[in-house]
Amino acid sequence: MSNPGLRAAVIALAAAGLIGLSASAVSQARAPQAAASFTAAYAAFQKTGTWPDKTVLVLEIRGAQEHASINKGGRSQSNRMAVEVHVKDTARFKGGWGFYGFSGEQPATLIPQAAACYACHQDHAAVDTTFVQFYPTLLPVSTAKGTLSAAYLAEEKAKPAAK
Ligand code: HEC
Repeated sequence: MSNPGLRAAVIALAAAGLIGLSASAVSQARAPQAAASFTAAYAAFQKTGTWPDKTVLVLEIRGAQEHASINKGGRSQSNRMAVEVHVKDTARFKGGWGFYGFSGEQPATLIPQAAACYACHQDHAAVDTTFVQFYPTLLPVSTAKGTLSAAYLAEEKAKPAAK
């Protein structure tokens, strides 16, 4: 993850305002092409409301710190604790997507389909097993294109009306 190409993609995503509840990013597995591929996945999403094959979403989990430097209130990001990766490769993965979890700089192996990652993302995520409901710049695109998942639509319907 110290690859400058992948960093560039993560920064590009932050600038595009796609950061969700925690830092998450779209990029490509092949890091040297990351910035270009990020643009491709994002552009395809804008056109179709869903992710093209070979999309890679990277979730960076960081600690939060208070009273860092000059900030008096709130919290800022600190050290990276883990990196989780969600890869769309329909020829390779049952259900179209595979999950990987990295800690440190070690290579990661595919997380098995039986893991909780798959079930939660399948049952609750708004678009193609990704949590687009937490990415406010993407949700309107999927709403307009009609790509919201049946599971998400049912959950929304079951919610008590906002007061
Ligand atoms: C109980 C539900 C739940 C489980 C279990 C879960 N996730 Fe998620 N995941 C979420 C939610 C909610 C988000 C969106 C919030 C965010 O971006 O932080 C998310 C976002 C992500 C993202 C960012 C892109 C996307 O797909 O939306 C990745 C990558 C990810 N999770 C990987 C994993 C991995 C790997 C595991 C298993 C080790 C896992 N998740 C297990 C709920 C879950």
